[in-house]
Amino acid sequence: MANVTVIGSQWGDEGKGKIVDWLASRADAVVRFQGGHNAGHTLVVGEQVYKLSLLPSGIVTGTLSIIGNGVVLDPWALRDEITKLRGQGVAINPENFAIADNCALILPFHRDLDGLRETAAGAGKIGTTGRGIGPAYEDKVGRRAIRVCDLAHLDKLDPQIDRLTAHHDALRAGFGEPPIDRDRLKADLAEIADYVLEYAQPVWKRLKKVRKAGARILFEGAQGVLLDVDHGTYPFVTSSNTVSGTAASGSGLGPSAVGFVLGIAKAYTTRVGSGPFPTELEDAIGQQLGERGHEFGTVTGRKRRCGWFDAVLVRQSCAVSGVTGIALTKLDVLDGFDTIRICTGYRLRGKILDYFPSHSADQAEVEPIYEEMDGWHESTAGARSYADLPAQAIKYIQRVQELIETPIALVSTSPEREDTILIRDPFSD
Ligand code: GDP
Ligand code: IMO
Ligand code: MG
Repeated sequence: MANVTVIGSQWGDEGKGKIVDWLASRADAVVRFQGGHNAGHTLVVGEQVYKLSLLPSGIVTGTLSIIGNGVVLDPWALRDEITKLRGQGVAINPENFAIADNCALILPFHRDLDGLRETAAGAGKIGTTGRGIGPAYEDKVGRRAIRVCDLAHLDKLDPQIDRLTAHHDALRAGFGEPPIDRDRLKADLAEIADYVLEYAQPVWKRLKKVRKAGARILFEGAQGVLLDVDHGTYPFVTSSNTVSGTAASGSGLGPSAVGFVLGIAKAYTTRVGSGPFPTELEDAIGQQLGERGHEFGTVTGRKRRCGWFDAVLVRQSCAVSGVTGIALTKLDVLDGFDTIRICTGYRLRGKILDYFPSHSADQAEVEPIYEEMDGWHESTAGARSYADLPAQAIKYIQRVQELIETPIALVSTSPEREDTILIRDPFSD
């Protein structure tokens, strides 16, 4: 059976949560493999709205939901999110939810450091979500992280805390902050340990079993390729690899498990936080896109920057992430525009580019080259079949497909789960 890996192909918030939720009823397991609670995935099912940051979106359909080793896990945020979802009637128990015991933890001083560094960076700030994601990943590769499995061995934690404090106390002193309070840290960990351990296990083993039984696995990416620490708009990126290949390393399955790579792309472009954005519109049209698309961050409530669809960026994301097919979301937000623009290339100091250059100064300087199309005045909102779309909207989809050199497999026409047009089923072989 085919597996599906869902990733964002822009700067996040493409509608991954909606698409994962829509596909989840046909999957046997949904796995998060990178990022942490910097993600904000909104799911709309009838009257209910679910906002998930850390839990895989499969939890809402009751599908086995797994947090893989590639995720950085804030145990207190986990508890809050589980409590919130249970309050909405979602069942979460060790039968349908598991956490990799080799996940690195996000600790309170990671969040502090994230904030301190952002404030100190002034105009050079990244515009992070302030959730401690970067500092936690740094500690992981610095081999001083506390991991989920450490919660079962709190009496063996001293050498790891020595490594942590040797690093962090020096940094904290530089910011005029007191050293880490070891006793407080140990007490905090002791208080949360059993809560997390109830779900902790070597998930690679559970996934191996699931896979052997011929089950379908749906991998749920967070953020987007342009926020990938290697392929994104560095340094204005997140601290993990968001490309499809991470699904394998971040879950404990080999690369052949990744299956159909479903890239999610909005029919226009948005970004939260700092960094280059060639097609950004700081005019009435940008404002209109933001208002119609309700473009406010789920995690921080920040206003998302908006602009036209950038085919160069999505083509590049599809290439570096091996995207098999695209889900084009929020098509309905483009309803009613007289004309619509698509960026097809860039001009940089007199040269034409068909790709996004690596240096942030060049990225900031490129000027988009636009192609203009007539818009459509009919509504596409809620359309569930291709036949329901106005001819001009179909023309737009086809032109996007051509420019990104990747087939469009799905089109989404509202936040509601079922308002989705299936063109090519990602689960079929
Ligand atoms: P994610 O981070 O990629 O999961 O995306 P977010 O949930 O942060 O942002 C996408 C927003 O758009 C959410 O509020 C969704 O409910 C909403 N959404 C998803 N698909 C569509 C769509 O096709 N049309 C409209 N109008 N909204 C959508
Ligand atoms: P989902 O999964 C949009 C952005 C932040 C900032 C940069 C680094 O909902 O698509 P971080 O806190 O990760 O160190 O911040 O990355 N960012 C996102 N933008 N959607 C997200 O997740 C994001 N997660 C992080 O705004 O620019
Ligand atoms: Mg989001």
